[in-house]
Amino acid sequence: MGSPRHFLDLNGMEAGVLQDILVLGATYRRGESPSGKERPLKGKTLALIFEKPSTRTRVSFEVGMKQLGGDVVVLGHTDTQLGRGETIADTARVLSRYVDAIMIRTDSHEKLLDLAGHASVPVINGLTDYSHPCQIMADLMTFEEHRGPVAGKVFAWIGDGNNVAVSWIHAAVKFAFTLRLACPESLPPPQEVLDWAGAQGGAVSFGNDAAAAAAAADCVITDTWVSMGDKDEKARRAALAPFQVDESLMKSAAKQALFMHCLPAHRGEEVTDGVIDGPWSVVWDEAENRLHAQKGILSWCLQ
Ligand code: CP
Ligand code: NVA
Repeated sequence: MGSPRHFLDLNGMEAGVLQDILVLGATYRRGESPSGKERPLKGKTLALIFEKPSTRTRVSFEVGMKQLGGDVVVLGHTDTQLGRGETIADTARVLSRYVDAIMIRTDSHEKLLDLAGHASVPVINGLTDYSHPCQIMADLMTFEEHRGPVAGKVFAWIGDGNNVAVSWIHAAVKFAFTLRLACPESLPPPQEVLDWAGAQGGAVSFGNDAAAAAAAADCVITDTWVSMGDKDEKARRAALAPFQVDESLMKSAAKQALFMHCLPAHRGEEVTDGVIDGPWSVVWDEAENRLHAQKGILSWCLQ
């Protein structure tokens, strides 16, 4: 038996595999089955571990797995012995005897890597403090659904240099698009991720000017100013206030620019109602595409 096909981070995956997963997801979105089988994951069970809250990730993985003919077990933080100190490694060994794949949403990225290192079944990153790759697969599907291939396009990330920003940086390199990040000086993306993108020859730039990043961009993206687990709310809101995505910023982007947000949104903070409910916004398609993209990820991991 070979190593399990984990889905941990976009930077560690081959670009061709990521493209294949997007094609699988788009096939599911059209209501077709790539393998021709109606229930390709019949008899398979996915464990979903949530150490942080979730609406979209939880529901889209559960519905997606069931649509593929499989089943799920959902484990909250206090439901398992993890909450009482059983190690991640032991949990990985045990769950691998019961289920065919494990998705985890947790705080520390080390826990995800530890789980993957000790599981004999595929492990999927459902968000850590460091990254959120499933989200960006859905976002790329959404852009391509509306505007065609992402390669060569210009994306602007406005706001916190957080977990979602990290996965966008990884994606920019793997999918060959330009990414301009504008974040406060106090909340930059991790330097090692920017360095990695530079070393890979990626078209990724970082600065503190939202207007410069958004100018003529094909897509403007933001996220909450206070992520799950962030403690310094007041300082964050103050630093991020100049980074709100409003109508005037969107008007400075390309004529056909899209607006994206992984949700949940904090209207009146990182984005105005006029933008999230306006003509640029594809946020509901992004949310829907979580389902289709993850069916692609599950199919790749389990087949
Ligand atoms: N975008 C996203 O991951 O949403 P949830 O936190 O609701 O899962
Ligand atoms: N950056 C946000 C994303 C939520 C889906 C968080 O980590 O809370």
